[in-house]
Amino acid sequence: MSNGVIETDVLILGAGMAGLTCALSLPSELEILLVSKMPMPTGSTYLAQGGLAAAISEDDSFKLHLEDTINAGGGLVNEEAAIDIISAGPRLVRQLSSWGVNLEGSFGKGKSGIEGGHSVRRVLHHKDRTGRLISEVLSECSLERGNITVMEGAFAVNLLTASREMPELVENAVDRCIGAHILQNGTILTVLAGETVIATGGSGKVYRYTSNQDSSTGDGIAMAYRAGLPIINMEFYQFHPTCLFHPDKRNFLITEALRGEGAVLLNLEGERFMENYDPQRMELAPRDIVARAIDSEMKRLGNDHVLLDATHLGREKLTISFPEVTNGVTSVGIIPWEEPIPVVPAAHYTVGGIDAQTDGKTAMNGLRAIGEASCTGFHGANRLGSNSLLEAGVMGLKAADSIPGTLMDPDSFHARDWSFGRAEPLMENVLVDYAWSALRNVMWDYVGIVRSDRRLHRALRIIDVLAGEIEADYWTMLPVIGLLELRNICTVGRIIVKSALRRRESRGLHFSLDCPETKQPPRDTVIKLML
Ligand code: SIN
Repeated sequence: MSNGVIETDVLILGAGMAGLTCALSLPSELEILLVSKMPMPTGSTYLAQGGLAAAISEDDSFKLHLEDTINAGGGLVNEEAAIDIISAGPRLVRQLSSWGVNLEGSFGKGKSGIEGGHSVRRVLHHKDRTGRLISEVLSECSLERGNITVMEGAFAVNLLTASREMPELVENAVDRCIGAHILQNGTILTVLAGETVIATGGSGKVYRYTSNQDSSTGDGIAMAYRAGLPIINMEFYQFHPTCLFHPDKRNFLITEALRGEGAVLLNLEGERFMENYDPQRMELAPRDIVARAIDSEMKRLGNDHVLLDATHLGREKLTISFPEVTNGVTSVGIIPWEEPIPVVPAAHYTVGGIDAQTDGKTAMNGLRAIGEASCTGFHGANRLGSNSLLEAGVMGLKAADSIPGTLMDPDSFHARDWSFGRAEPLMENVLVDYAWSALRNVMWDYVGIVRSDRRLHRALRIIDVLAGEIEADYWTMLPVIGLLELRNICTVGRIIVKSALRRRESRGLHFSLDCPETKQPPRDTVIKLML
């Protein structure tokens, strides 16, 4: 086991849409190190079925897209950020096309889709494999670029900050990021970088059931929190209304685009229950409303799922336009043109995150956060479907635009080597496995779609005990990804609970039985570690 030092102009942590778009848009004179925890293509982008929302058709406008985003966002949308992101949609679509990603519904090509809360068709897509296409093409492009070095199977452990390593670089009390410690093959590398970009995605693994990949462990959010950055609005966790209910395929998404094409939700008594919750918009109401309606029907009838009936679409349409869903459900014996699909809500999207501007700038010099790991306020208290790929791509472009061509020379930085001290190998995996499932269960049972103070306080007490044990393991065991991810996801779980307790109202994705009213004026929830 030996440590080493690497220097680079830009260090990008994460290889989903945000990280890749940023890497590909930076000038070729800059040396970029792209660190991916998993082999590429990867990340939540890869799993995104529905698509990318962009106002480019003749019957659409930025104003209409903005209105829909604000209406869904529970009064908390940052309008300036939203205008910035929405108006950059056409540029992103053109840029994607220049890299080889041509989506249905984009300029002169095919028909766009529609999802809940969108008043017109504006979801550009590639059947129901939109994210997969974007991930594959952008990953390939990045592997071909001479100035991008891709490091797969590597895990960012902690940010390196001037306040800890080079206090002379702290300017007017504003800290600077100078890189990160990266774990690869049991070695911890010290990576020094002129600019560091967190694009590590969300944290769906904090809940027992999620549509996310196993790698969605909130690593960037936890790292930023430990470095003293403000983390905002984490109580707004979006549950996708329709994931497949099946013991062997728990995390499988059933795209909202199916409801866009007329699929209907039924309870186990065969009633189209959305009539009782949102009679105007029915199945295309915003996600917070549909997810809560499903939760309420399941609790009312004592069932563990509801049904999504897409049989009217027929075999040909389902097979051609929705191959991902069709293959997924037929592989477990469900024939979607003959029978309704059993579905249940599952954790899907981290609406809160590292407080950032639309170009990813954070409260720390030399550090940006983009995509799902960040929070610009674009989604407010509830995200519209397919607005996240738009945000990830636009933030990637804007971050690349605003990263200065001449950065601080990483050669002038120095940081302490990682010290393994007397750490020992983790011999009892049961310690990690138990804490993982305890955390995910407590989050699901006590911090889910509908919350109460009693459950939130209980969750916090349990998480505090787990966090204490995990921290003890972290300081005494040799670093392995499972333990580091657990540490991160536990930090994120704790932030979600603390944010939820701090919000004394119900708004968007946060619904509290104890505080059912919405209060004015709308406020962000900020959680920050005092260093
Ligand atoms: C879906 O296809 O339903 C997911 C799209 C999204 O969450 O943006």
